[in-house]
Amino acid sequence: MLPRVLTTVTEIRAALLPFRRAGKRIGLVPTMGALHEGHLSLVRASKAECDLTVVWIYVNPSQFGPHEDLANYPRTLQADLEKLATCDTEFVMAPSEAEVYRPGHATWVEVSAIAEPLEGRCRPGHFRGVATIVLKLLNMIQPDIAYFGQKDYQQAAVIRRMVADLDVPVEIRVCPIIREPDGLAMSSRNVYLSADARQRATVLWHSLELARQLVAGGERDAAAIAQEMTQRILAVGATIDYVALVDPDSLAAVTQITGPTLAVLAVKIDGTRLIDNTILKRS
Ligand code: PAJ
Repeated sequence: MLPRVLTTVTEIRAALLPFRRAGKRIGLVPTMGALHEGHLSLVRASKAECDLTVVWIYVNPSQFGPHEDLANYPRTLQADLEKLATCDTEFVMAPSEAEVYRPGHATWVEVSAIAEPLEGRCRPGHFRGVATIVLKLLNMIQPDIAYFGQKDYQQAAVIRRMVADLDVPVEIRVCPIIREPDGLAMSSRNVYLSADARQRATVLWHSLELARQLVAGGERDAAAIAQEMTQRILAVGATIDYVALVDPDSLAAVTQITGPTLAVLAVKIDGTRLIDNTILKRS
């Protein structure tokens, strides 16, 4: 059965009230739609743990920079609903822009420190938009548990920080990255890739695998690992926003691999910006 689609805060609150009163656990999966198996894995995690799952679908303008892909971002609501039906999703909240940013909106959530490097540096204002919409959707729906993907590692870290700092009564779960058979992390943006660019895009995964092999082989120098990854990426004609080895908690750069280390990268292939990451472990 297709999920029930609600578009206003009043409607979603009214629809959830009986379940909340009955003590049911509400799971929430925030997305921007154009759903793929990565998103559906979050839905399945919620279904496994909660009594009721709400999927949020909204392309949030405030997290896109002025020269980013807001206008072209894929919007496929009907197909999304059909995919969600296959996972027995109960509710979809798909608000209009007018419902989300009402006239006079003037409040923004700014997370510092952890939001500043990596994506924060390359996409000024991005995490302000993300933190604001995520706080709003948590307040609108008031789930018990909200599910995010490790694919956007820094985003999940920023949200955890915000939820802790602002005492938001929700548990945050972060689920593993779902990949295509050739290693490319699933992303709504993969549809932008030409056949040729799609093939070259596997370089993100290959460079992370290379880092893993180097660490397994005893390499401990972060700069040397980043250098090898960089060469691999440049060899396919991609451009690099960043390739970094950082502490998985603070996201501060590391110089030596002394414990679990996040390898994280953002790369443009023919203008399409892709991100990926993995945790490297010392063997
Ligand atoms: P979106 O890019 O649609 O992603 C929604 C969620 O799906 C995020 O938590 C993301 O990390 C997760 N996800 C995406 N690809 C994945 C993959 N291959 N494997 C596992 N999880 C994956 O992230 C956003 O939307 C927005 O910033 C949002 C949080 C909804 C705020 O607007």
